[in-house]
Amino acid sequence: EAAEKQGYDHYMLKEIHEQPDALASAIKPRLTSENAVVFEELDQSFFANIDRIEFVACGTSYHAALYGCQLLNARGIPAHVHRAGEFSSYPAAIDERTLVVAITQSGETADTIESIHRVNETDARSLAVTNVVGSSIERIADKTVYIHAGPEIGVAATKTFSSQVATLSLLAAYLTPTLGSKTASNSALLSSIAELPTAVDTVLSTADSEYVAQTLVNRPNRFFIGRGVGYPVALEGALKFKEITYEHAEGFAAGQLKHGPLALITPESAVLVVFTGDHDEKTVSNAHEVRSRGATVIGIGPDQADGPRRVCDEYIGVPSLTPELSGVLTNVQLQLIAYHCASALGRSIDRPRNLAKSVTVE
Ligand code: G6P
Repeated sequence: EAAEKQGYDHYMLKEIHEQPDALASAIKPRLTSENAVVFEELDQSFFANIDRIEFVACGTSYHAALYGCQLLNARGIPAHVHRAGEFSSYPAAIDERTLVVAITQSGETADTIESIHRVNETDARSLAVTNVVGSSIERIADKTVYIHAGPEIGVAATKTFSSQVATLSLLAAYLTPTLGSKTASNSALLSSIAELPTAVDTVLSTADSEYVAQTLVNRPNRFFIGRGVGYPVALEGALKFKEITYEHAEGFAAGQLKHGPLALITPESAVLVVFTGDHDEKTVSNAHEVRSRGATVIGIGPDQADGPRRVCDEYIGVPSLTPELSGVLTNVQLQLIAYHCASALGRSIDRPRNLAKSVTVE
C-alpha cells in the first residue's frame, strides 16, 4: 500500500496532487488547438430538439452538477439539478425534449442508477458522466461520457470533482451552438480550461492551507459561503470538511446567510468565503456582516482582489482565471484545508467512519 501511495501519507493527498494530470486527461483530447470542443463519444444529433437538461447526482457529484448547471444557464440552456435520492422517487416532469444527465464518479450509486431507470420509463434521453469504464450507469444510460480522472481510492472525492467540472465545462461549450443563446460566448471559458492544469499546479505549490487549517481546529462550527460558481464550491468545501474531520461545517449561498444562518455566528465561528472575481462586492458585504459579529473570516479567491483581501482576516490567493473556472482552483485549496485539519485531528482520512466510496443501497 505504501508503494501505491507514492510517498504521500494518504491516498487523498496523492489524489489531490494528481489533479493537474487528471484535468489534462479530461481536457486535452477534447479541446483542439483552435479551441474547438470535440466529444468523440457524442454526436450533435443526440441533442436534437432538447429544450432542457435535468441533472441527477449525489454527494460531491451533486455539487459538480450544480456547477455545470450554472455554466449551461449562463449560455441560455435551461437546466436544473436534482438530488438523485429524491428524483428516484419523485422525478421531475420530463418528456422527449428533456435530457437527463447523471453525474456519478463510480457509476454505481444506487439512487443515481434508480433515477435513470425512472427516466427510461419515459421518452426523455439520458447521458451518464462517469469515471469508471464498464460501470452500471453506462449499461442503462443512452450515452456515456468519461471524465478520465484515473482511479480514486480515497472515500472523499477530490480529483473526480475537478474532472467532472472540467468535463461539464467542455460539454456546456459543446452544446452552446445548438442549444444555447445566439449571443453566448465560450472564448473566455475555453482559454481558461486550457490553462486549468497549470493553474491547479500553482495552487498545489502554495503552502497557505496548512497554516489556515490550524486556525480552524478549535471551533464550534465553520461556515462556507460563496455565490455563483462559488456556491457549489462552498457546499463542496463544507462537505469535504465534515467527511474527513468529523467536525461541524455547513455551506450556504452567500446571499442566504442573512436569512437565518447569521443567527449561528459567534466570535468563535470561522467563515470561509469563496470569491470568484464575479459579483465579489456583494460577497465582500456578506463577509463584512460576519466579521462585524466577531467571526474569523478566511477568504479564498483570485490573487488580484483588493476588496476581498481587505475584509478577510486571512486571504489565500489563487491564479486569476475566468470567474467561471475560478471555483475549481478555490476548491483545491478547500480540499487541502480539510485534509490538513483532519490530519491535525488524527482522523482516518482515506476511510472516514460511517462512509463508503460508493453507496449501492437506496
Ligand atoms: C458517496 C461518497 C461520496 C460521493 C457520493 C456519490 O456518498 O462517499 O464521496 O460523492 O457517494 O458518488 P458517485 O460515485 O455517484 O459520484
